[in-house]
Amino acid sequence: MEHLKCCVISNNEPLDQAYWETQYKTKTTGWDLGQVSPPLQRYINTIITKNSRVLIPGCGNSYEAEYLLEHGFTNVTVIDIALTPVRALKEKFKNNPSIKIVLGDFFAHQGKYDLIIEQTFFCALPPTMRQKYVWKMHQLLAEEGILAGLLFNRTFESGPPFGGNKEEYELIFKGAFDFLKIDVSKDSIAPRANSELFIELKKNSQVVVNLYELEGITDSDCMEKLIEKLLAINGVLNVSISSNFADVLLVSKKEITTETLQEVTAYDEKYAIKKIKN
Ligand SMILES: C[S@@+](CC[C@H](N)C(=O)[O-])C[C@H]1O[C@@H](n2cnc3c(N)ncnc32)[C@H](O)[C@@H]1O
Repeated sequence: MEHLKCCVISNNEPLDQAYWETQYKTKTTGWDLGQVSPPLQRYINTIITKNSRVLIPGCGNSYEAEYLLEHGFTNVTVIDIALTPVRALKEKFKNNPSIKIVLGDFFAHQGKYDLIIEQTFFCALPPTMRQKYVWKMHQLLAEEGILAGLLFNRTFESGPPFGGNKEEYELIFKGAFDFLKIDVSKDSIAPRANSELFIELKKNSQVVVNLYELEGITDSDCMEKLIEKLLAINGVLNVSISSNFADVLLVSKKEITTETLQEVTAYDEKYAIKKIKN
C-alpha cells in the first residue's frame, strides 16, 4: 500500500509549498514510482505529433517528462510548487532545450497546451479545489486540447491522496470536456491495480467555463436548490459547487452576466456571487 498512502497525512495543515517541500526534504514521497507510469507510457506511445505542447502539472520527479523527451517530444513544460524536484529536474535536463521547468503554482500558470498529463496531481489537491482544477485545465488547453492521465477510483480515509469515483468526476468535468475515455486502467502498477481510472478528456471549445466565488451557502440542501436554479438559466449546461460551498463552476453556451446570476441568487439575501478572474 505504500504507493497509495503517499505522504504524511495533513488534516489541518494547508497543502501549500512548505508542505510539499517538507515531503521531498524528508523523502516522504511514497507516490514517486521511480518510472513512468505504465498507462501513461502506453498512452504516450500512441502520440504521433512530437511537437505537441505538453504540460505536466505537479510534476514531481516527472518520469513522464523524461519518457516524452526520450521519445522525441520537443515542447514539454513541467511545473511544480516544490523547489527540491524542480531543482533536480533543472540539473538533469540542463542541456535539453525541449523542456521548460517551472517553479510555481499551477493555478497561476499561463500558457496554451495541446496535451496536459495528469499523474497524482489532482489527488494531491484539497477536494475543495476540484472545480478550480477543471476551470484551470479548460483555460490552459488549446482548442481540441486533451487532458489525459490517471485519477483514483477509490476513497481514502484521509489525504492526500484524496480519492473519488467515475460518477463524481463526470459531474465536475461535464460540459467543459468531452469524455473520450474514463475507464478502469488495466495496466496500473500492482499496488494501484483496479484503483485508477484512465481518463482522456477533450476540451469543449464551444462553451464558456467560468468560476465564481460564492458566499452564504452552508449546507447541501441549499446547494442543491441553488444548482437547480442556476441550471434553469437559458444556456447553462452544467453547474458544480465545491465541497466547501465556496466555488461555483458554471459551463454555459454563452457568457452569463453577473446581473443575471445575482438576480437568480437573490431569493436568499445571504448569497453573494462574484466572478473569479484569470
Ligand atoms: C503526489 S505528488 C505527485 C508528483 C508526481 N506527479 C508524481 O507522480 O511523482 C503531487 C505534486 O504536486 C505538487 N503540487 C501541489 N500543489 C501544487 C500546485 N498548486 N502547483 C504546482 N504543483 C503543486 C507537489 O509539490 C507534488 O510534487
